[in-house]
Amino acid sequence: MIVEHLSLVDFRNYATAELALHRGPNVLVGRNGQGKTNLAEAVVFLATLGSHRVSSDAPMVRDGQEFAIIRARLSHGERRVLAEVQVNRQGSNKARINGSPSKPNELPRYAHVVLFAPEDLQIVRGDPSARRRFMDQLLIQRIPRISAVLADYDRVLKQRNALLKSARARGIRGEGLSTLDVWDDKLVSLGSEIITARQRLAADLQQPVADAYEAIAGADHRPQLEWALSVGGADPEEDDDAATDADEAPAVAKLGDQQHIAELFRASLAAKRSTEIDRGLTLTGPHRDDLMLRVRDLPVKGYASHGESWSVALALRLASAELLRSESPAGDPVLILDDVFAELDADRRQRLATLTAGYEQVVVTAAVEEDIPEVLHAHVVRINAGTISDEREAADD
Ligand SMILES: Nc1ncnc2c1ncn2[C@@H]1O[C@H](COP(=O)(O)OP(=O)(O)OP(=O)(O)O)[C@@H](O)[C@H]1O
Ligand SMILES: [Mg+2]
Repeated sequence: MIVEHLSLVDFRNYATAELALHRGPNVLVGRNGQGKTNLAEAVVFLATLGSHRVSSDAPMVRDGQEFAIIRARLSHGERRVLAEVQVNRQGSNKARINGSPSKPNELPRYAHVVLFAPEDLQIVRGDPSARRRFMDQLLIQRIPRISAVLADYDRVLKQRNALLKSARARGIRGEGLSTLDVWDDKLVSLGSEIITARQRLAADLQQPVADAYEAIAGADHRPQLEWALSVGGADPEEDDDAATDADEAPAVAKLGDQQHIAELFRASLAAKRSTEIDRGLTLTGPHRDDLMLRVRDLPVKGYASHGESWSVALALRLASAELLRSESPAGDPVLILDDVFAELDADRRQRLATLTAGYEQVVVTAAVEEDIPEVLHAHVVRINAGTISDEREAADD
């Protein structure tokens, strides 16, 4: 698919914006802080219903306004789809598809986007939450209906935590808490669906990641992905050494079917119940899992060099793009390369450009135009303090 046209109202620093994009490479150039990443973020929001920079929606609404609008005309071959979302500072968002009201979580069915950004280094170096977010956003692209499951899980988790906290405050012990069982049922059924889908995703990404890593790094360092599951006994959220301790292999549950995962989940909840009441917190489930990344059989976090870490991050994004490309009837995802070339050495820059140039549509942003490799240097648009000027196009006409 491609984005033919993007319109914004009160999104970040844009009062209004109209951006026409071409098939193939597009370049957005502008000095720091002018609004390049904001454009990238708007497109990503349609595809993942979230931002790569913030976990709440409010910062995306222009200062002083109550809501923002992102509207995009998408083209899937001959078919055109008008996708629109109203991002509300407070309350739930609203969506329209071809003008008709629709649920926001329908949008990822139409918009497929893979974003490469400097923040991607945090996927390999940051907290487990960064890796969960990466995998969940890709899951939403792959299986759009999972976004409702993820949202329901979050809601159940919050309610269960509130119940645990109030039980602690009232001094109720484990056995006296029969209402907890109702929440446990929901937590287990939603949670095991998430764990199973994430495990399948990790397994399906394994080969594309290995291929992409070799293509980017120019060497095969045997990258591996595997979930450390809290329901399987791992505790990556508490145990900071789990990722960095190479000698002690963390507890990793083998790829299981959903039924098996649900049983592990139940047993784990039973084992942790009294600690959970003591702490007023749900201590087991997909919200406590981590995606273990290794190269040369060592954990990336804590061991890999800066360059190797970048190669893993880029390989995860490239592999995501390849996976979506191979599975989606809607064609290629749109690739957005936000400010990544400035971060890379000449070899990786060249390889990344060559590997991405063949996608139906690529959007590259840069503060310094010279950083953009020749194969991607086309259709330059200039961004200046929230205004967009299509200089080259005007000159071409
Ligand atoms: N909700 C908002 N309301 C108004 N302005 C905002 C809002 N959120 C962000 N901005 C402004 O948008 C600008 C940042 O835009 P953006 O991150 O897109 O910059 P950029 O062009 O990508 O810069 P860089 O090259 O440094 O990455 C900042 O000046 C910031 O203050
Ligand atoms: Mg930026």
